[in-house]
Amino acid sequence: MALELSAIASHRVKHVGNRQILPYVVGGVVRNALAEPGRVRRGLLKHIWMDLKRFGATSVRNIEISRIRGIDTTVVEGPVAQHGSLILTALAKLLECERVFEFGTYRGETTWLLAHNLPSARIYTLDLGGPDVALRAQLELTDPELVTHWDRGERFRGTPEGRGITQLFGDSATFDFSPYQEKMDLVYVDASHSYSYVRSDTEAALGMLSELGTIVWDDYTGYSGVFAYLNELAPGLDGPIFHLLDTRLALYSRWPVVVTD
Ligand SMILES: C[S@@+](CC[C@H](N)C(=O)[O-])C[C@H]1O[C@@H](n2cnc3c(N)ncnc32)[C@H](O)[C@@H]1O
Repeated sequence: MALELSAIASHRVKHVGNRQILPYVVGGVVRNALAEPGRVRRGLLKHIWMDLKRFGATSVRNIEISRIRGIDTTVVEGPVAQHGSLILTALAKLLECERVFEFGTYRGETTWLLAHNLPSARIYTLDLGGPDVALRAQLELTDPELVTHWDRGERFRGTPEGRGITQLFGDSATFDFSPYQEKMDLVYVDASHSYSYVRSDTEAALGMLSELGTIVWDDYTGYSGVFAYLNELAPGLDGPIFHLLDTRLALYSRWPVVVTD
């Protein structure tokens, strides 16, 4: 009887490891690349390049999100598609931020998310005043497709969350940040992603940070300018810059928010 059972079990067990699926995967890539060359080239090469960048970084350190102190017990509410913004909001919540400054409002999705989950905080959000201002931008703009239509802050306008939001307009390269000096618990840098704008916005962000403040940058892995500037900046800061793996976010904090080895 025991012999019969083990014969049945071995018949049912089929081991599938990486070696077994390799021909299927490689064959699929070749077939898909022939059928839709543009899509495969854009998707696959983009991801390979992003991985090369983060593992080739010499100054910015890669960490798992789970290394953020308290993130595993922090609950935020919002659309799951906005993965990065949810993590940013969780950070703002666990850091008990009272004042947040966002560079780049766009439709205001992240602004709304922050205001919704931090009802007693004040959220400041800055964007260009209109397409004409974009044409006169002081430094190098990225994402020209974003400045063809104008719905800045549409997501929070007229909502209860809007009461916690102060919408600001101007080119971040010439904006007067003096009223916000050393007052912000969190600054989110997500406007133009060129090297020169990220440098200028980060310098302004550092001036606005409170004693235990935090800066988060979006698109660290996506844009060469953000990647180059942050790797250049990191060695000169008083604390590390971390890239949160499986996101596009990078983080610097004056509070020991990351559990280090
Ligand atoms: C990527 S979108 C921001 C997305 C938004 N933070 C969110 O999470 O939904 C970038 C925004 O930055 C704005 N922007 C670009 N350059 C800017 C500048 N120099 N000053 C202020 N805003 C700028 C653009 O108009 C655009 O709305």
